Amino acid sequence: MKKQILGLVAMATVLASSINAAHADTIKMECPNFDGAGKPYCDYIKQRFESETPHKVKFLSLPSASDEKLGLFQQVFAAKDSDVIDLFQADTVWMGLLDKHLLDLTEHVKDMEADFFAPAWQNDVVNGKVKGVAAFLDSGVLYYRKDLLAKYGEQPPATWEELTRIATKIMDAERNSGNDKFWGFVFQGKAYEGLSCDALEWIASYGGGTVVEPDGEISINNPQAAQALDMAASWIGTIAPKGVMGYQEEESRAVWQNGDALFMRNWPYAYLLAQDENSPIRGKVGVMPIPKGGENGQNAAALGGWQWAISAYSEKKEATVQMLKIVTDADAQKQLFLLGGNAPSRVALYDDPDILAAAPHLPAFKTVFASATPRPATATKGQYNRVSKAFYNAVYNVLSGTTTGEKAVADLEHRLKRVKGRQWK
Ligand code: GLC
Repeated sequence: MKKQILGLVAMATVLASSINAAHADTIKMECPNFDGAGKPYCDYIKQRFESETPHKVKFLSLPSASDEKLGLFQQVFAAKDSDVIDLFQADTVWMGLLDKHLLDLTEHVKDMEADFFAPAWQNDVVNGKVKGVAAFLDSGVLYYRKDLLAKYGEQPPATWEELTRIATKIMDAERNSGNDKFWGFVFQGKAYEGLSCDALEWIASYGGGTVVEPDGEISINNPQAAQALDMAASWIGTIAPKGVMGYQEEESRAVWQNGDALFMRNWPYAYLLAQDENSPIRGKVGVMPIPKGGENGQNAAALGGWQWAISAYSEKKEATVQMLKIVTDADAQKQLFLLGGNAPSRVALYDDPDILAAAPHLPAFKTVFASATPRPATATKGQYNRVSKAFYNAVYNVLSGTTTGEKAVADLEHRLKRVKGRQWK
C-alpha cells in the first residue's frame, strides 16, 4: 500500500513538472540599464523569477528619456503587438495616456494597496482599475556640497534667491583659487520631460500654479510664472554652464559627482551613487527640499516615479503577473534601493535598518514624497504629452534668451488653449 502511494506521488510529481514545463514561458521585460549600472538588480530579479517560477525572462533595453520611451510605446501599442514587450515601467504621467493598452491588475494586486504610499497607489488607478504598481517614488530634491557650504560659512539655501547668492559667491571664490571648471548649480535644462519637472518646481514655488490646474483651467499666464522663468534664465552662463540646456538627469549628475558643482537639482536616486566608494564627493553630500520662491513662496517638488505595468496585448499574462509580484514585493524594492538608489514606494521600508544605514536622510523625506506636486497629467487627460512639450519648449526659449518669461507664458497660454479645444479629452 505504502509503495503504491509513493508510486502515485512520484507519478503526480512527474506529471506536475511536465505540465509546468509545457507552460514555461519566456517573458520580455524592461529592466533599466540591465547591461550597465542596473545589472546587479536585474540579475537579482532574473535569478528570483527563474528559480521561483518555471519561466524565463529576457531583458530589453529602452531609451532613457521619458518622452522618447513614450513615443516608442505608443507605436508598439498602436500596432497591438504582443511580441515586443510584456512588462515595463510607465512614467507617473502616462497612466491616463496609456490606460487602454494596460492590463487591468486589480484582481492580482488589490491586497497590496495598504502597504504602499497612498498617492503613489492612487496615481495608478485609472477609471477605478489598477493599471500599474509603483516601482519607486520620485520627487525633486536639491543636493548640495556640505564641505563647501561649511568652508564658506553658509547654510543650505531656503529660497532660490539665497541659492543664487550662495552659488555666485562660492563659484567665484573657487574659481579664483584655481578650480576653474567649478559651477554653482546644475539641473535638467534640455527641452524634454525633465525640464517640465524642473520648471514646474520653479513656477509652483513662487505660487505660479501648475500650468493647468486640477480642474482643467489653463493657469500659466501669470506674473509669478513669468518671474520664475526669468530667474532660471538668469542662471544660464552665470551660475550654471550654458551646457545645462543639453542636460538630462545623468549629465547633471556627471558634473556634480565629479565635484564640479555646488548645487544640483535631481531625483533621490543620485544620493547613493554620489556616496559610492569611488565617488569623488563621497561623504560631502547634503540633500534637502527644493528651495522656496522668495520668503513668501513654498517648497514645491515635482512628483515623478515609475510604475510596473503589463501590456494588454501580452500573450504571457500569467507568467508576467508572477514577475510583477516579484518586482513589487518588499525584498525587490529593498534591493532596488540598495543597488540603484531608487526610493521605495512601500511605506514600511522607511523603517528598514539596512535602508536607514545607507540613507539616514530618507525618513525625513517621507512627507516631501507624500506631498509632491503632480504635473498636470490627470487634468489634461490624453493631451498631456502635447501640453508638456509645449511647456518645456516655452521654458527652453526663455532659458536660451529667445524670449522673455512674460511673453513665453502668454504665448504658451494661447498654444494650450488650441491643444485643449473645448475640453481636455
Ligand atoms: C524621472 C521621474 C519621471 C520624470 C522623468 C523626467 O525619471 O521619475 O517621472 O518624467 O524623471 O526626466
